Amino acid sequence: MKTLIHLVINGLSWEGEVALGQTLLELLRDQLGLNGAKQGCDGGECGACVVLLDGKPVQSCLILAAELDGSTITTIEGLNDGVSKIIQEAYVAVGAVQCGFCAPGMVVATKALLDENPDPSPEDINKAMVGHLCRCTGYVRTVDAVQYAAKHIKELNGAE
Ligand code: FES
Ligand code: FES
Repeated sequence: MKTLIHLVINGLSWEGEVALGQTLLELLRDQLGLNGAKQGCDGGECGACVVLLDGKPVQSCLILAAELDGSTITTIEGLNDGVSKIIQEAYVAVGAVQCGFCAPGMVVATKALLDENPDPSPEDINKAMVGHLCRCTGYVRTVDAVQYAAKHIKELNGAE
């Protein structure tokens, strides 16, 4: 059984049918070809699938698409403004990306964190990254990346 839903995805209006048991992650990857959100554990434990739902980070593997009618979704593909580019560059600059599997979810979570808190402490960052597993880097470089991004975003805003 299917149901018709309307979403705004990465700034574009989308309307289509989804199966009742279909997750948001399946909709994004299998139906819409947005492969930036990764399918890791598929059970809410790794954070690789995180996207923004109405501006808040969510694990897209745990959310049913059929329940999202009228929502706004932003995936890593939609994070292409100046602030988001700084965040992505920060992860690379401090060596917080190695295999990169965790990176899209962490970058999305970082965008949500810095939108709410432009000057997060290491504790704030670690709290925001709970549920994001990374097998490669350890988590010190993630904190470095978020603080590096915060500093450069402040400079960008100061220059405006
Ligand atoms: S794939 Fe969603 S939390 Fe791991
Ligand atoms: S960089 Fe490989 S899992 Fe995080």
